[in-house]
Amino acid sequence: MLICLVTYAQNWQTNPDATFCTFCWRTFGLAIFVGMICSDRKGKGPCFEIKAKKSGLLGGTEQVPVLELRQISKNFGAIRALTGVDLSLEAGEVLGLMGDNGAGKSTMVKIIAGNFPPSGGEIFVDGQPVHFNKPVEAREKGIEVVYQDLALCNNLTASANVFLGREIKKGFGPFKWLDHAEMVRRSGLLFAELKSETRPRDLVRQMSGGQRQAVAIARTRLSEPKVVLMDEPTAAISVRQVAEVLDLIRRLRDSGHAVVLISHRMPDVFSVCDRVAVMRRGTKVADKLIKDSSPEEVTGLITGAINVA
Ligand SMILES: Nc1ncnc2c1ncn2[C@@H]1O[C@H](COP(=O)(O)OP(=O)(O)OP(=O)(O)O)[C@@H](O)[C@H]1O
Ligand SMILES: [Mg+2]
Repeated sequence: MLICLVTYAQNWQTNPDATFCTFCWRTFGLAIFVGMICSDRKGKGPCFEIKAKKSGLLGGTEQVPVLELRQISKNFGAIRALTGVDLSLEAGEVLGLMGDNGAGKSTMVKIIAGNFPPSGGEIFVDGQPVHFNKPVEAREKGIEVVYQDLALCNNLTASANVFLGREIKKGFGPFKWLDHAEMVRRSGLLFAELKSETRPRDLVRQMSGGQRQAVAIARTRLSEPKVVLMDEPTAAISVRQVAEVLDLIRRLRDSGHAVVLISHRMPDVFSVCDRVAVMRRGTKVADKLIKDSSPEEVTGLITGAINVA
């Protein structure tokens, strides 16, 4: 207001016709406009600063990993499934997680997804410590999983499985019922996007391995997750569908999602991943850029022929 009065007084000498109201409007209007273009809606500070930080222009501001594990351990009674595992994942990155049977890959995924707590260590999402007690809490933080056993309900249809726990309802007030038609329509669109021939109304128990895989993957596409964990998504599907799943992973990466791909298939990891981490007997023995490694080296790391890299 004071600024308005002073500026108005100065301006009055040159333009005595301008009213005080017009002047206030111009000054405040300009201030609001500048505020709108410079402020982030959630109050994280001016947008030019955020953009400059992201592009590194302000210097000294490193990109915060979207997911970080520090010294994660997991014991099942006497079995030490994981020992002191560190892992970090950036947005828009695909990490291949490899290792022999029983190396601890699925255990790691289940800890990240909130299926069970770690015995030790910490998890950070966007730099903030998180403690998940159940999978829905991890999902709320933007973590979606395609489990190795797919975790589908065989007695339900494909569309019911896609929307399990996130059913679409219609109605008003307390009178709500499931909108099956909309769920069928939307899951049909998701299957089309995956180029899968899965029909939304088919029962999962009548489906092939590839069709089940498509149902499990379609489920992760319902939200806009930050991290998608895929535990052996190409283990039991046809060659054509492998290519489609790999394409889907590339699309996820290109739209800024971080993906962890657990796989025993060396060609898949080397064709789609930016980085590879190798697990052996519950410890991480390598974490390298794909361009700095080779299938031979990774095979040696998995079997123990090469100790660490
Ligand atoms: N719920 C559980 N109870 C007891 N032991 C478990 C449990 N889950 C996993 N383990 C043990 O933890 C170890 C790691 O298992 P995990 O399933 O993580 O291996 P993996 O790397 O995913 O193997 P695969 O490639 O065969 O899927 C194994 O020795 C396994 O027997
Ligand atoms: Mg596993």
